[in-house]
Order: sequence, then structure tokens, then C-alpha cells
Amino acid sequence: MTDLADIASVGRDARRGGYSRHGFDRAEIELRQWFTEEATRRGLDVQPDRNGNLWAWWGKPGPGAVVTGSHLDSVPGGGAFDGPLGVVSALQAIDLLRAKNFSPVKSIALVVFVEEEGGRFGVACLGSRLMTGAISPEAACKLTDPDGVSFGEAAHKAGFDPLRMGRDDQALRSIGQFVELHVEQGRGLDVPVGLASSILAHGRWRFTFTGEGNHAGATLIEDRRDPMLPASQLVLAARRAATGGARATVGRIVPNPGGTNVIASSVDVWLDARAGDDARTREVVEAISKAAYAASVEEGCEVRVTEESYGDTVHFDSALRDEISGVLGGVPALPTGAGHDAGILAGHVPTAMLFVRNPTGVSHAPAEHAEPDDCAAGVVALASTLEHLAG
Ligand code: GLV
Ligand code: MN
Ligand code: MN
Ligand code: MN
Repeated sequence: MTDLADIASVGRDARRGGYSRHGFDRAEIELRQWFTEEATRRGLDVQPDRNGNLWAWWGKPGPGAVVTGSHLDSVPGGGAFDGPLGVVSALQAIDLLRAKNFSPVKSIALVVFVEEEGGRFGVACLGSRLMTGAISPEAACKLTDPDGVSFGEAAHKAGFDPLRMGRDDQALRSIGQFVELHVEQGRGLDVPVGLASSILAHGRWRFTFTGEGNHAGATLIEDRRDPMLPASQLVLAARRAATGGARATVGRIVPNPGGTNVIASSVDVWLDARAGDDARTREVVEAISKAAYAASVEEGCEVRVTEESYGDTVHFDSALRDEISGVLGGVPALPTGAGHDAGILAGHVPTAMLFVRNPTGVSHAPAEHAEPDDCAAGVVALASTLEHLAG
């Protein structure tokens, strides 16, 4: 809690409430600096990788290490725990192990992934996707933020060379096992600490509706081609389609040009859709797309759909999960609807996630909370896990 208090003033969003910390923005860079100082103060060797992620090593960097960590960026107006809890818990776990004179047989590394939320450049888990080759460096570097700054430019400004980005086999080989600690993001956990079993299939789709920009007062209703109409129908269709445990959300709509007395000429609508498996997720998106297309035709508009990112269901390594559960004396395993860098890594290395109880189930919002005692239990669980895996 002291560590979280230490960074509590960084990236506060006075307008939205909570925090807005995004990949390579001023707040995230300040937090990277903070992490570098904290890790260095503990005698860890801090080394950035080629893709904008930060590593801190206890022991010699090399293949087969036990790696833990999370991210320091947030969604717009996010909470204090999603991301930072995993980073500060990793630092605290190192302190606990040091205090008991543990000396790791395998190296331990802490990692901070860049732009996990996709809150600035639109694609989540950008650092881990680049590292694993799940996104090409060309595609990643072309992504732009709302001000038109590209990820490539932002990375370059932060000291990274876009030409050296891309799948990093050396970094991947350095991970023997990956364990990410994270605040639970629903109401799925009624004890202080649990383990993740799986992540829903999920993705992001951008719908661009194009109509005719015109005057809000002078244009007769029957003369309009207003793209806000099919955009609103998409929102309703998302709610209708998300049945049986599927989730579909429109959290962001940008009308162009965006004036109260202006009929928009186009509207961008971002859809986040998630479900238990690939087929069901595709079915949900298909139903929503059909409704959006029909509403678009009815209003004399056009619609273009782009899949901005997608990932199939993740099943975490059950052997590693059972092993960790054994170390912790038996803890529940639960599925989650939230995406994580651990989900990207799970296709490449044995990966597990520790969850800390979320008393209200609120996340991606300023009210996100975890009790100090539960956070402490998380640190102890992470330390025991690292001790077991690296001992
Ligand atoms: C990231 O936290 C996500 O699940 O969207
Ligand atoms: Mn998140
Ligand atoms: Mn997170
Ligand atoms: Mn996440």
C-alpha cells in the first residue's frame, strides 16, 4: 500500500476521475522511472527489451528464469490496482524473499509490459504481442493515438528503435515460467487469493458509419443520412446479442466532426466482444454486424468494419496452476473475462495468474478496490510461488 501511495499522484485524471496512464505518455514514463529506481535500489539489474518492456533481474539474465510482473498503464479514468498491483507486489515479494535470506537457484525477473490496456494506441497487450510476434512491428508502429501520434513515434521518443521491434525469441526463452498477479476484476473470488483458469475469447472491432454532414436545423428529417442512427442501433444490437455469458460493449463513440448543431458526416464506434470460445464470439460479432449493416442501409449510410485485435480463449497451464495451488495450500481457480499479458504469453510459455479478491467487482473505473489485507496475502502468495519455482 505504501508503494501504491508512492505513485498515487502520477497520472491522476481530474476530469474523468481515477487514472489515465497510457503507453509512453508522461505518466507511464514517470512510473517506469519509479520502477527503475525501486528495482535498482533493491540491487536488481534493470534492462529494457527491444519492444518497450522493462525487465529487472535478480540473478543473471538468461534462459529459463521465473518471471513475474504486470503493467503500469491504465484505461482512461481507470483504477489504482489494475496493473500496478502486480508490479508493486512483485517488488514486495522480492523484499519478503530477501528478508528470509532466500537465494534463488533460477534467476527471477520482474517485467513491466508497455500499453497493456490499449488505452492510447487501441490494441491491448502491445508489449507482449510484439514480444511474441502476435502483432508485427510494422502494424504496431502504425497505430496512432487520438492526437495522431504513432506508436512508433512514441516509442522512438521514449528511447526505443522501431526498426528493432518485433518477435523477441531471446526474451521469450528467458521466461521459464510466467506468473502475473492481478486484482480480480469481477466478483468471482470470495477468499483473498485465487488462480486464473482461463480467459474469454475477446477482440475489438471498429465500425465506421458514413452519412452526410449537414445542418441540424435546416435539414429536413426525411432528407438526412445521419450515421448516428445506425451507430445507436449497433449499441442496442450489442446488448441483444450478448446472451448466455457473452459480453458485448460499446465504450467509445466518436462522431465526426462532433458538433451539437451538426449532423455528423461519419461516426466511429468501437465494439468490445467476448465469449467462452471463438465460435460464440464470432457469432455475437456477426449478429451485431448484421444489425449495424441493416440499420445503415435503412438510413442511406455506409458502414465499414475493421477487426482491430482478437485473441482466442486462453487456458492457463493446468500443471503449473496445480503446482502453485499446492504451494498455497489449495486455492480456487476461476475464469476471467479480462485480458492480460499473461494471456498472450500463455501460448508460448507455462503461465499462471494469481488473483487478489475484489470486494465490489468494480474494475476499469476509479472505484476499483482491493483491501490491504488481501493485497498482503497476494504478496505472500506470490513470494511463496517464486520461492518454490526458483528455489
Ligand atoms: C484489459 O484489461 C481488458 O481486459 O480489456
Ligand atoms: Mn485492465
Ligand atoms: Mn491489467
Ligand atoms: Mn488487462
